[in-house]
Amino acid sequence: PGTYMDQHGRTKQFRELSDYVAKCMNQHGICVVDNFLGDMPGEEILKEVQDLQSRGTFQDGQLVSSKGVQSSQNIRGDQITWVDGTEPGSKAISYLVSSMDTLLMYCGQRLKPVSIRGRTKAMVACYPGSGKGYVRHVDNPNEDGRCITCIYYLNKGWDSRETGGLLRIYPEGRSEVANIEPIFDRLLFFWSDRRNPHEVLPAYAIRYAITVWYFDTGERLRAKQRYRLPVESEKHPKWTPQHHPLPVTN
Ligand code: OGA
Ligand code: OGA
Ligand code: MN
Repeated sequence: PGTYMDQHGRTKQFRELSDYVAKCMNQHGICVVDNFLGDMPGEEILKEVQDLQSRGTFQDGQLVSSKGVQSSQNIRGDQITWVDGTEPGSKAISYLVSSMDTLLMYCGQRLKPVSIRGRTKAMVACYPGSGKGYVRHVDNPNEDGRCITCIYYLNKGWDSRETGGLLRIYPEGRSEVANIEPIFDRLLFFWSDRRNPHEVLPAYAIRYAITVWYFDTGERLRAKQRYRLPVESEKHPKWTPQHHPLPVTN
């Protein structure tokens, strides 16, 4: 923490962390990692996000089958922009995403039965703090290929008792819910399918998060065949920490 770690430092840290993440995902389907990168990269990421926002690149979050802005705003009140890490002013965001990649790669075979190969671009999301949230939903109810949702939060001193904005997950078949504060430098993983319906409670302060969805090789291939999408665009010859998989558009 405190600086960008070199590849060697990250390797050791992520090997250890991946033991925890793999166990946690297999047991609970949800996993929280606090102080993921430390203050320094964390603050630079936040600054890049705020700069992106001040440049006006954010747009209202869309729904796959939205019947117009009016109705989608009642469902999700966030504003978003997609970042692939090659844009100017996205160095820290790119470091974050490659750190997520590395950590998941080290989970490797232990995240059975999924086999991760590729991911989406990073979705940078901002809830403006006017009481908007995101109603209860499942990220991937229809086998579109996304198997793991990975969210990094950027909100210093967040306290949901004052400003709402909790992420509430309703794990399938259980009576308890998981309430997750969107606090600074917190990383969250959960299975993207029907096992984890979730909602963002109304947020009364600006709330930032960066989300990446990882693809399961087989499910993604089947989805592309089903929707007749080009298969080539997402080929990732190697899935290693050095090789950043090609981001794809949703
Ligand atoms: C989403 C979502 C949760 C969060 O964008 O699909 O559920 O905590 N976000 O921001
Ligand atoms: C589903 C679904 C939503 C929910 O499982 O298909 O949409 O809130 N669930 O449980
Ligand atoms: Mn979601």
